[in-house]
Amino acid sequence: MGVLKIGVVGSNRGIGLSLVWQLVRFRHQVYAFCRNASEELSSVRPKNIIENFDVTNQAAMRVSLRSLGSVKLDWLIHVAGLLRPVTFSSFNQSSVFEQFKVNAVGPILTVQVFLPYLAQSSKIGILTSKLGSIKQNTSGGSDGYRMSKSELNMAGKSMSGELRPKGIALFLLHPGFVRTDMTGFRGNTDPSDWASALIKIINAKSLRDSGSFFILMGKSFLGDSLPSCSDIMEDIKGKGEIYGAQAMAGTGYRGYY
Ligand SMILES: NC(=O)c1ccc[n+]([C@@H]2O[C@H](COP(=O)([O-])OP(=O)(O)OC[C@H]3O[C@@H](n4cnc5c(N)ncnc54)[C@H](OP(=O)(O)O)[C@@H]3O)[C@@H](O)[C@H]2O)c1
Repeated sequence: MGVLKIGVVGSNRGIGLSLVWQLVRFRHQVYAFCRNASEELSSVRPKNIIENFDVTNQAAMRVSLRSLGSVKLDWLIHVAGLLRPVTFSSFNQSSVFEQFKVNAVGPILTVQVFLPYLAQSSKIGILTSKLGSIKQNTSGGSDGYRMSKSELNMAGKSMSGELRPKGIALFLLHPGFVRTDMTGFRGNTDPSDWASALIKIINAKSLRDSGSFFILMGKSFLGDSLPSCSDIMEDIKGKGEIYGAQAMAGTGYRGYY
């Protein structure tokens, strides 16, 4: 992999911050988009930190993006997301709409504003969640989050169809159960482990795989000795539905996010 130009949206903490750290370590040119930069993000020293980037505000995003000039990104990774623990019994309309805005509509607005900064053979990765699966929802809980990610998966699949003729690939990525603010620092993996797996997946996948939903599994992807991408993900494309319990069986995956 040569030096790539990569945009990361939602880069100031959690998975996004780890991703920036890892990409900078691999000497890629990273454009880190966030609402407000954190000290940690500044200390990682990406090529550029672009603030005031709220994925629910397309006008503000367009203004921030002007600082890219004529840059074309090889990869765009949309990480930004929000979880509010709303359940059926505590249903709260405004919190459900808030999650919809950030998790489902936000990535569409983001991809739209980035289009002039992408080129043929660019790749887009969007962080989604297995909690968006209808088939796998046996317990309920986090209802607004589940609904928003389900919507995102549909939106991602649709966008991939429209982007294919432009030569742009789009992947939906479930990171597993990662220790961040969002999970109250519970989980099976640290964000840094997850970040290296994600980089390998996006690198290995191409337009042929566009619209697929990839799951990063259990502990099998930990460490740098990973032999191949197929060891760390389950490509469940072509099984008639975006999700599949069968495809997940035997993966060792135990998280709920
Ligand atoms: N952690 C897991 O186990 C897990 C599992 C499945 C999926 N995911 C998905 O992975 C992604 C990252 O999760 P995480 O665990 O790293 O969460 P996190 O630590 O809570 O970080 C969330 C990130 O999203 C940003 N964000 C939220 N609302 C935004 C908005 N309106 N505009 C721009 N940025 C916004 C936050 O920025 P601020 O600091 O400005 O709020 C922060 O950078 C999310 O999409 C999440 O749904 C995570």
